[in-house]
This record gives sequence, structure tokens and C-alpha cells, in this order.
Amino acid sequence: MHDVANENDVWVFGYGSLIWKADFPYHERRPAYIHGWTRRFWQGSHDHRGTPESPGRVVTLIREPGAVCHGMAYRISAETLGPLDVREKNGYLREVTPLHFTDGEQAEGLVYIATDANPAFLGAASYDAMARHIADSHGPSGPNSDYLLNLADALRAMGVEDVHVFTLAETLEARIADDPRPV
Ligand code: BEZ
Repeated sequence: MHDVANENDVWVFGYGSLIWKADFPYHERRPAYIHGWTRRFWQGSHDHRGTPESPGRVVTLIREPGAVCHGMAYRISAETLGPLDVREKNGYLREVTPLHFTDGEQAEGLVYIATDANPAFLGAASYDAMARHIADSHGPSGPNSDYLLNLADALRAMGVEDVHVFTLAETLEARIADDPRPV
């Protein structure tokens, strides 16, 4: 049962940790997707999965005509946005986006995006370099590898195919198997 929609409620689209770690109050949670964006591990994290001296790698969205990014949408009270903004700082800005729920309904929602203009943006690298970087990074929210592997598990559980995330997770797992240092 969901509580009744309030006109102050907003939808927020999660495509990274928000998919598997919803540590904020919400009224409703629904699988959804957005058009024209692709998920990439191209953003530096100095406050969650790394440190200012050694930033980790987390996801942002990159514009790609024709692309579809699947994630999880949350209907939250407007007051919850303030704490979420704090959680999602580090280069991310809110954008308004059309949201498509997997049952065919649509709504307008918000999404946090870190563009290449933010100082923490890292950009593309080879899968091997990104996997090595993630295996070696830790931050106040835990190992960077947990972030990647939890995201891959959550997408798999949703039946979402994401070649970028799955290839990176497989590269990381192969690396851990080859070099079982604690990550
Ligand atoms: C997300 O899961 O959608 C997300 C998490 C942190 C920053 C930006 C987006």
C-alpha cells in the first residue's frame, strides 16, 4: 500500500547507489528509466567512496542520443530533498527529467547529474584502469568495490542489462581473484 500522493511530493530517479541504498524516507519506489542518458563510472568521489587525496570512481550520466538508462524512482516529500542534496553533493546538480515507469506510466522527476564541467569529473579510462582504481579506493561510505558490485547485483536483480557496469564488475572480480588482497 502506498500513501496518497501529495502535491508537494517529488519523484527522484536513482541510477547509482540510490538503486540499492535508499537510506531516506520515501512513499513509493518504482523501477523506471530515462531516455538520452547512459550510466558511466566517470565521476570522482572524495566524500563517499574515496577521499580528497584519493578519490574513488562512481557513476554519473552522460548524454547519448538514443540511450536508455534504467534505475529506480522514489516518490519523496519535498522536505526530503534537502538531506538528499547534502548526501549527493560532490559535483552533482539536479536536473528535471521525464521519467518512464516500467508499467508504462510517466511522470516528471529529478535526477542528480555530475557533468564534465565539475572539478571531480574523471572521464573515461580503460576497464582495467577503472577496475584497478575502484579496487584500491575506500571512503567514509566503505570500499569503492562494494559500490560497484552492489550496483551490478541490483541491476541484475531488476533484469536490467548494462554492459558498462557488468564489464567493469567482471573486470574487478577477475582482478580480486588474481590478487586477493583485501579491497
Ligand atoms: C543515484 O544513485 O542516482 C545517485 C547517487 C549519488 C549521486 C548521484 C546519483
